[in-house]
Amino acid sequence: MKFLKKGEKNKETPNSTTQSHPQLKVISGSEVSGKRTQQPNPQQQQAPQQNITLPNIKYKIAVASGKGGVGKSTVATNLAISLAKIGAAVGLMDADAYGPSIPTMMGIQDKPLTSPERKLIPLVRHDIKLMSIGFMVPEEQAMIWRGPMLHSAIRQFLSDVDWGELDYLIIDLPPGTGDVALTLTQAIPLTGAVIVTTPQDVALADVRRGVAMFERLGVPILGIIENMSYFLCPHCNEKTEIFRADGGKNTSERFGVAFLGEIPLDAEVCTAGDLGVPIVAGHPASPQSAAFGAVANELNTVLQESAEEDELTIL
Ligand SMILES: Nc1ncnc2c1ncn2[C@@H]1O[C@H](COP(=O)(O)OP(=O)(O)OP(=O)(O)O)[C@@H](O)[C@H]1O
Ligand SMILES: [Mg+2]
Repeated sequence: MKFLKKGEKNKETPNSTTQSHPQLKVISGSEVSGKRTQQPNPQQQQAPQQNITLPNIKYKIAVASGKGGVGKSTVATNLAISLAKIGAAVGLMDADAYGPSIPTMMGIQDKPLTSPERKLIPLVRHDIKLMSIGFMVPEEQAMIWRGPMLHSAIRQFLSDVDWGELDYLIIDLPPGTGDVALTLTQAIPLTGAVIVTTPQDVALADVRRGVAMFERLGVPILGIIENMSYFLCPHCNEKTEIFRADGGKNTSERFGVAFLGEIPLDAEVCTAGDLGVPIVAGHPASPQSAAFGAVANELNTVLQESAEEDELTIL
């Protein structure tokens, strides 16, 4: 796989102004009427849209889960930094319009600037480019979206951000199989999705819905990541399987998709996210960071293998 050289990616910051983006609509709680928006039926939701191609981004990968709170944002953040550490040019897009957590996890609350071409310029932190709906809306503001507004905001994020050339755009989704995932998969040709789960049966059962949704939308599943797999004793490094062992691995076998790896349940992982310095950036030599690094390598391998398969198919 050919990556951009380190340093190349940050050279391209265009002349910027401190304007806020001219078209990006910031939704405040008070703008939201009490009226329930009529939900479009599934036929309408799947109406074809003009695709946003993002030709300068090699791999566009959604990080999804069937269930909330399994660690998608934690995994997306640490995975993005791990990929940057192995030499890739990486962007991280927080598409969780309901509860954006990437700004907190990356320790950044600035507003992005706008280029003379009226594109949003991603912020750069821990060597990756970031864009989040959370950069646009105050943290305490309720993010209640009308369906069409959400749809256009997500499309706008995808088309109006000047990502430059990237090897990876990692896209952190809200939990479940709702509007954001649907809009995203209709708007851009995703390379694939990775599904994050925890080992408990209750989470694994939800993986099925996530897999089914992406399959139905024609998005390849690149693999499953099991988070909070085991507890690693900080004193003796002994592994304790708090939940069921190998749940994610068995589930990936059942669905015939790759198992990308396990991340330990660990207080440092949680604290690091809260402090805005993800563990991979703050403690790169830790066993927890090694686990994220192994997942990044595995994802790389899966993508390389699928590229080779495509070449064979073309021949
Ligand atoms: N491996 C881990 N060890 C310890 N804590 C973790 C781990 N992974 C995630 N957490 C913690 O669990 C909480 C939920 O994680 P996170 O926000 O990443 O989940 P999520 O799936 O993105 O949630 P949501 O569905 O709400 O978007 C956070 O406080 C995070 O720090
Ligand atoms: Mg999240």
